[in-house]
Amino acid sequence: MRVVWLTRFGDPSVLTPGEAPDPVPGPGQALVEVAFANITFIETMFRATGFGPFQGALPMVPGNGVGGVVTAVGAGVDPALVGTRVVTSTGGSGGYASQVAVDATALVPVPDGLGLADAVALLADGRTALLLLRAAAPGPGERVLVEAAAGGVGTLLVQLAKAAGATVVGAAGPGKLDLVRDLGADRPVDYTVAGWAATAGPVDVVFDGVGGAVARQAFDLLERGGRMVSYGLSSGAWSDVTDDEAAARGVTLLRGVTGPPEELRALTAEALARAAAGELRPVIGQRFPLEAAADAHAAIEARSTVGKTLLVVA
Ligand SMILES: NC(=O)c1ccc[n+]([C@@H]2O[C@H](COP(=O)([O-])OP(=O)(O)OC[C@H]3O[C@@H](n4cnc5c(N)ncnc54)[C@H](OP(=O)(O)O)[C@@H]3O)[C@@H](O)[C@H]2O)c1
Repeated sequence: MRVVWLTRFGDPSVLTPGEAPDPVPGPGQALVEVAFANITFIETMFRATGFGPFQGALPMVPGNGVGGVVTAVGAGVDPALVGTRVVTSTGGSGGYASQVAVDATALVPVPDGLGLADAVALLADGRTALLLLRAAAPGPGERVLVEAAAGGVGTLLVQLAKAAGATVVGAAGPGKLDLVRDLGADRPVDYTVAGWAATAGPVDVVFDGVGGAVARQAFDLLERGGRMVSYGLSSGAWSDVTDDEAAARGVTLLRGVTGPPEELRALTAEALARAAAGELRPVIGQRFPLEAAADAHAAIEARSTVGKTLLVVA
């Protein structure tokens, strides 16, 4: 099968197209012919330095989320699954590939009426956005600041917060504010402009996927009773806001969001269902051929992407 190998950590050029043996589904597994693989921001950090939740010795095939059609099943798996459209996580590696063999219990069916590309775009970011929304629980009339509002998770958070009745401030870089407005943000703000925070607050909730100086400025906008969820560090540094600082300001600080595998799958299924019903719009900003994974990583690192970046495999 076709894959992209990571042979050493480094700049995007370390991602090398190549071949690997075709996987054979073992007992309890299903084989998926991959149509699209997603790329998450953390994968660019892992590729660069080895940082992140992924394991495995190099060389490895990176990637953790794909969608396609089930083409075979192993012992103990319902053969009726063959031919169904699914998305699935791949256990932390192996996603930049034309085939994956995964536990059949990991599969999430793609509802009728939703394209496979849209489903893959929602696979990881949809569940993350739903977890984040639940953690901060913005209510009607509350003011919500979404950082990196034009990004993979951010584009979904803007929509979900708006649907919850919140007033949404969407902070993003230059050239991305029209998209943020189109998604429903009441106030798009360019947070690369000095003094941006003065026009953004005060707020009740901060979704912090950027960290660093942006997180600090966003924290300063929170009022008593506010909530800040820090779940990412696309700036390269986590938020340095401490629990003591938050407590002194009457702000609830939450770090990271996750859940057990069955809950994550249920949340992915919820995101897909909402998209199929027209309630949630995945934004696929860029598509690259599988063999151009290095270009995709370079674009993400250059901050030139919006929404989700997909690898087109089939
Ligand atoms: N379960 C979890 O906890 C979880 C799940 C998914 C993602 N995350 C984390 O959430 C963050 C966002 O993930 P994502 O996949 O949705 O990424 P993304 O938002 O699609 O991409 C990152 C965005 O961050 C912004 N950014 C700000 N400073 C940057 C810098 N110095 N370099 C590069 N980008 C910068 C850029 O948008 P602008 O140009 O608009 O600033 C960029 O497009 C990541 O840190 C990721 O690791 C956590």
